[in-house]
Amino acid sequence: MKKLIVGNWKMHGNAAMAHALAESVAAAAAASKADVAVCPPATLLTQVVGWLIGAKVKTGGQDCHAEAEGAHTGDISAAMLKEAGAAYVIVGHSERRAAYGETNAEVAEKAAIAMKSGLIPIICVGETAEQRKAGREKAVVGRQVKESLPEGAVSSHFVLAYEPVWAIGSGRTPTPEDIREMHAHVTAVAARHTGLTADKICVLYGGSVNAANAAILLAIDGVGGVLVGGASVKAEEFTTILRAA
Ligand code: PGA
Repeated sequence: MKKLIVGNWKMHGNAAMAHALAESVAAAAAASKADVAVCPPATLLTQVVGWLIGAKVKTGGQDCHAEAEGAHTGDISAAMLKEAGAAYVIVGHSERRAAYGETNAEVAEKAAIAMKSGLIPIICVGETAEQRKAGREKAVVGRQVKESLPEGAVSSHFVLAYEPVWAIGSGRTPTPEDIREMHAHVTAVAARHTGLTADKICVLYGGSVNAANAAILLAIDGVGGVLVGGASVKAEEFTTILRAA
């Protein structure tokens, strides 16, 4: 499977920065063997899609609502993202689980409507520092995977992202052996839940991926790619990560 490198810009940037970044990413993606996507803030999505016409870079949303439409002030539907040109949507990011109390069941609903709308959901899971300290990381993440995958997600049109909460934005990452073990676990749980074979399931690693550690992380058995936050809004960092893939 080709590696998938996704940049999650979070709530960063403006049009000038996004334009320059999109052009750098497009140039680096042309020379990379990996599949590449960037997830800009929703207000920049249409412009970024325009700047990436003809480039080997897809785009994604950072969240979508679980319903198709309705009275949900401030929310964005999967169909809206699709119409804007997105191919992916991140769902269940730990920042949203923490700040908005998103549950596994809601994440599964979001993933389901994303798939129905023709988007590939990037379903995020990951344990907190306390859960790892208590030795509960596999139980927690396994349950998140099982419950966040939509019922009947039998096609391989979804991506999972293992992002330990304590590794996000902290400069810390699990050991390669811990990542290998967790990716094998996530893949096994997803395979059992969907009936897909392991080779059809893509599990990204996310959490403090940067230019210096990307090659090591991408070489770990079972790592299908990386979901990059902070380093994805720095052109030089992100393009180095693309070269590492
Ligand atoms: P980070 O964020 O790369 O800044 O740690 C990753 C993420 O939140 O997806």
